[in-house]
Amino acid sequence: MNPILYALPGNEELRDGLAAQWPADHGALEVHRFPDGESLVRFADAPAGRDVVLICTLRDPDTRLWPLLVAADTARDLGARSVGLVAPYLAYMRQDQQFAPGQAITAKHFARVLSAHLDWLTTVDPHLHRVHTLDEIYSIPTAVVAAAPLLARWIEANVERPVLIGPDAESRQWVSRVADLAQAPWLILEKTRLSDQRVELTVPDVARWKKSTPVIVDDIISSGGTLVETIHQLREQGLRRPVCVAVHAVFAQWAYWALLEAGAAQIVTTNTIAHDSNAIDIGAAVAETSRALLARLPLRGAASARAVAVA
Ligand code: R5P
Repeated sequence: MNPILYALPGNEELRDGLAAQWPADHGALEVHRFPDGESLVRFADAPAGRDVVLICTLRDPDTRLWPLLVAADTARDLGARSVGLVAPYLAYMRQDQQFAPGQAITAKHFARVLSAHLDWLTTVDPHLHRVHTLDEIYSIPTAVVAAAPLLARWIEANVERPVLIGPDAESRQWVSRVADLAQAPWLILEKTRLSDQRVELTVPDVARWKKSTPVIVDDIISSGGTLVETIHQLREQGLRRPVCVAVHAVFAQWAYWALLEAGAAQIVTTNTIAHDSNAIDIGAAVAETSRALLARLPLRGAASARAVAVA
């Protein structure tokens, strides 16, 4: 039987994009907010005996997590055979170490909570840095979609004479891969973070790229501080207005406008998070990866045993 896809609120477009590439049924899931801030989840289409796929990208994770966990547990209570999550943007991955004494390593805690409620997880380019693979912190099967081929294809089709620029050491993994695929030159800057919004950059001499189109590539644009400073530095050295390409359009507060004001010629993102800058579709890759993961799961027996125990 086909799996059944349920979108958490705000993820309907993402669900439709996946459903177009995946022989799966749509299910209706309602999340009601009471005036006091509590919420109530209801499956309008029964998931009994089905492989349930919850779709919930995790920007604003603190508000999204609770309804998601209740939906996962409820699906199981109602007899779902398995319950997986497609979260194209996986939150908290940047908090992967104690940066100051007494701090939480939230990536690990978040992983523990999701692993306790779900049978599997698919995501797109999680911020793997000090955590090298999701298996280090997630105890459920996970699959990662790499956006690099899609970014490379977009750059090849839309940018003349690109030179790819990564703003920090962490971006090297994406920039080098995208540059290889797009057959473009690339360079990496050095970044020191000063605060939530401010960073300091060390930029090599880039004068030789004055006739090229700078393409700043990063995985996440959050406060926008990293890219704003990168744009300033490149412009100061006389480079053209850059194109900014990112996987996850987090865009906290006024970040998007700050980038435009700093001199971005164009801002392009994938649709892991819905945003006006989305121009690169991850739907087909996520659907294919999730289908493949679901097909090879060893969890059938375990999942139904867990469902029976909960009921
Ligand atoms: C950090 O290493 C990431 O790759 C991004 O560069 C960072 O998260 C961007 O954050 P912000 O937009 O707040 O500077």
